[in-house]
Amino acid sequence: MEFHNLIYEPKHNCVLITINRSKKLNALNKELIEELNHVLRYANEDKAVRAVIITGSGEKAFVAGADIKEFSDFNPEEGEALAREGQSLLFDFIENMEKPVIAAINGYALGGGLELALACHLRVAVEGAKFGFPEVSLGLIPGYGGTQRLPQIVGKSHAMDLILTARMLNAEEAYDISLINDVVPKDALLNKAYEIVEALSKNSPNALAQAMKAINNSFKKEGYEVEKTNFGKCFQTPDFKEGIDAFLNKRKPNF
Ligand code: CAA
Repeated sequence: MEFHNLIYEPKHNCVLITINRSKKLNALNKELIEELNHVLRYANEDKAVRAVIITGSGEKAFVAGADIKEFSDFNPEEGEALAREGQSLLFDFIENMEKPVIAAINGYALGGGLELALACHLRVAVEGAKFGFPEVSLGLIPGYGGTQRLPQIVGKSHAMDLILTARMLNAEEAYDISLINDVVPKDALLNKAYEIVEALSKNSPNALAQAMKAINNSFKKEGYEVEKTNFGKCFQTPDFKEGIDAFLNKRKPNF
C-alpha cells in the first residue's frame, strides 16, 4: 500500500510511524486514519515487532487534532459516524493492540492529537510540546475517546478543567499531572522512545499483552457510547457553526 500521509520505518525490533502532514500540523483526516489502521494492523501481527512508536513530522506539531475542514459541514449523523469510525479504526485499535505503542510527542497534541496520545500505552514529549482539548471552543466535545481516557489518566478534576476551559498545558505541567510519562529535550525524543522499547523488549511479549489487556479492562464502561452520541449532537448547532466559522476565518468565536 502506498502511503500519502505517513512514513513507516521498521527499526530493529520496533516500527517508527511518522505522521506526515506537517503543512496541516498533522491533522487527522479520514485517509490518514485509514493508513494508520493499516500499518498498525501489520505491526500487531508481525511477531518480530515488539513495540510501535508514533511521532509527528515537522517542528511544530505531533497532531493538532481532527481535520476541522473535513468535517466543517457535517450533520449530526455524519459527526457521530466520524467519531465511531475513528475510534474503531484508530483509538480503540491502538488501546487494544498486543504490542505497546509509545507516543513520541514532538509539538502540539491537541484535540484528536491528544486523544491519539492518550490511546497509546506510554507518552514521552519534548520540552516545548503543548497539550489541550480545544473542542468546546469549536462548539464540539472531544469525540475520539478524550472524555473517557483523560479522566482515566489524570483524574476527573484535571479532566474537567482541561476539557471545559480548553486551555493548553506545557510539557512540564502535563508531566506534573501524569498526562505524560516523561519530558526530554527536543533532540532526545526518539532516543528516549527507543530506550523505552529496549526496556520493554527484555520482558515477555505475551505477559505485556496480557498486562495491557488487564489494565484496559479495569476501565471498560459505557462512557464511550455517550461520547459518540453527544459528539454527533453538537454538529450543525448554532455554536458549532460559530466555532467552525471562527476557526476557518482565523477569528475568535463569539458564543
Ligand atoms: N484541522 C485542519 N487544519 C488544521 C488544524 C486542524 N485541526 N490545525 C491546524 N490546521 C491547519 C491550519 O488551518 C493552517 O492551514 P493553512 O496554512 O491552509 O491556513 C495550518 O494547519 C497551520 O496552522 P496555523 O496557521 O493555525 O498555525 P498556528 O501556529 O498559527 O496555530 C494552532 C497553531 C494553535 C495549533 C492552530 O493551528 C489551531 O488552533 N489548530 C486547531 C486546533 C484544534 O482546534 N484542534 C481540535 C480539532 S477538533 C477535534 O479534534 C475533534 C475530535 O476530538 C474528534
